[in-house]
Amino acid sequence: MNAATNPIWHPFTQMKTATPPIPIERAKGCTLYAQDGKTYIDAISSWWVNIHGHSNDFIAAEIARQASTLEHVIFAGFTHAPAMTLAERLIRILPDNFSKIFFSDDGSTSVEVAIKIALQFWHNQHIAHKTKIIAFENAYHGDTFGAMSVGMPSVFTAPFQKHFFKVDFIPTPTSENIGDVKRMMTALIETGTVAAFLFEPLVQGAGGMLMHRADHLDELIALAQQHEVLCIADEVMTGFGRTGKIFAIDHLKNKPDLICLSKGITGGFLPMGVTACSEKIYQAFHSSEVEKTFFHGHSYTANPLACAAANASLTLLLSDQCQQQIKNIERSHAQFLEKIRDNKFVTNVRQTGTILALELTTNEQSSYFNSTRHTIYPFCLNEGVLLRPLGNVVYIMPPYCITPEELKKVYSVILKLIEKIAEK
Ligand SMILES: Cc1ncc(COP(=O)(O)O)c(C=O)c1O
Repeated sequence: MNAATNPIWHPFTQMKTATPPIPIERAKGCTLYAQDGKTYIDAISSWWVNIHGHSNDFIAAEIARQASTLEHVIFAGFTHAPAMTLAERLIRILPDNFSKIFFSDDGSTSVEVAIKIALQFWHNQHIAHKTKIIAFENAYHGDTFGAMSVGMPSVFTAPFQKHFFKVDFIPTPTSENIGDVKRMMTALIETGTVAAFLFEPLVQGAGGMLMHRADHLDELIALAQQHEVLCIADEVMTGFGRTGKIFAIDHLKNKPDLICLSKGITGGFLPMGVTACSEKIYQAFHSSEVEKTFFHGHSYTANPLACAAANASLTLLLSDQCQQQIKNIERSHAQFLEKIRDNKFVTNVRQTGTILALELTTNEQSSYFNSTRHTIYPFCLNEGVLLRPLGNVVYIMPPYCITPEELKKVYSVILKLIEKIAEK
């Protein structure tokens, strides 16, 4: 189908210049099967959602079973077993301070919900001056207005920026800047106006797979909590095993008050967002005063099919087999990292859990708009591997069922790519 007759407007795509989308007929495990007979290893888990491989039989069967029992029901005034089970299971695997689960539709809405809960937490207690949010530079939290506001302003959000609420951005901590970042954060929170500190723990995904240390983040959370600032962990990307533990916050000593989950939650089958909060937060809403209610909800909230998928995905994730697969990927990435660390055509090779990232050395700045992207993406596709670089940042974030042979192929394509860039 040519661009003029295609009725679909694709996301994050300049439709005028983009090459036509590749029609995919089916997918199994890590392999995407295209209409023209080509196959691709999905090394980025289809925008980071797929954790157990495509068309997983167990998840598919659980969804089918649920679909012929209860496909959906309004979630105000009604509830159902798949949601109850999922909420109980999530609470069990989240840190001890979490006690309530609020369902929504996707990563952006899980962030919107967290921001609204944090702001209303102070409002409900008549603390009117706590309205500001602190976030990290290079943050990405989604594309709805609240989520865009707490993301680092960029070309992506330029047309909307005058409608954003005020957010203070601080640098992500490094060994060099941690003292300065703490001083900057202290100055902001000592004004007494900060409601919440929102962060992607350990890995900032869309910002370029930027990684920071758990102990540094711990220090910032401690600082925020000493000054009664709520902490929100956006684990939309890092949740469900990506960082080697079930949640990235499992690497931390200090636990946040709210957590945002999505992407891997259903194993990549159906959209779902979850915002979990601590009992302290929930108690600020639990009242006989009607205006203290959290007036928020979406038509498909806690959709039973999505809940069934999430329950099945969680069963797989917690199995010894999957935990072992995660460890195998970590070990395999670490070996590849050692192999290419000193290659002069790559810089900043880094790894957190199952995520490996590197930057191809070019004469341009490392950024989403680095023109090397136009070489990397088609080159890897042509080699049968789906890697969707962030500018010159190449990363691997595979489904956990990826085989050693498939991983080997992905690494070999990256090595070939480095050679190609070196030739230029
Ligand atoms: C950390 C983080 N938060 C929020 C989002 C938004 O999620 P969604 O695309 O499902 O709205 C993303 C998406 O990439 C993300 O990486």
